[in-house]
Amino acid sequence: MVTVRRAGMEDLPALNHLETVCFSLPWSDNTLREMLESPLDTVWAAVTPNRRTAAYLDYREVAGEGELMRVCVDPAFRGRHFGRMMVETMLREAKRRGVTAVTLEVRASNAPALRLYENCGFRREAVRKDYYDSPKEDAIIMWRREG
Ligand SMILES: CC(C)(COP(=O)(O)OP(=O)(O)OC[C@H]1O[C@@H](n2cnc3c(N)ncnc32)[C@H](O)[C@@H]1OP(=O)(O)O)[C@@H](O)C(=O)NCCC(=O)NCCS
Repeated sequence: MVTVRRAGMEDLPALNHLETVCFSLPWSDNTLREMLESPLDTVWAAVTPNRRTAAYLDYREVAGEGELMRVCVDPAFRGRHFGRMMVETMLREAKRRGVTAVTLEVRASNAPALRLYENCGFRREAVRKDYYDSPKEDAIIMWRREG
């Protein structure tokens, strides 16, 4: 079993590790520090009983709208719905705060992430051509709207 809890500065080394094993362009240590210090961001970590960090998620709220900024699951823990558990944790918190619309952007080729988001109720609303670098790729903009 894993426990999902709010992440803090003490999780920085584990989040740096997750970034390097999960992304072609990992967020820098500075970006992660700013995220953990930002009043706009809420960050959760999924931690195993032997204190391994299996996943993290960064959610940002601006002017009453939510955005899923980042979610990743350690490759050793993928395919067990840890991703879904993290997104559902975020959606519960957004709902608790009265946020009715949450958005995200994702690489067009990222099939596991697209599947995860669609499973969690996000729908495709727009495409941003050549939005990403390394490799150059379109972004799919998704929204999950209540009601
Ligand atoms: C995207 C990511 C978070 C998913 O984590 P996970 O714990 O494996 O996610 P889940 O198990 O909850 O859901 C993944 C879904 O994709 C499906 N899937 C897995 N590989 C797939 C593939 N190659 N093609 C299509 N669907 C795929 C799974 O079957 C599952 O769907 P299901 O629940 O209907 O069976 C993880 O792959 C990851 O960390 N990727 C790298 C970082 C990333 O791309 N983050 C998202 C952009 S910020």
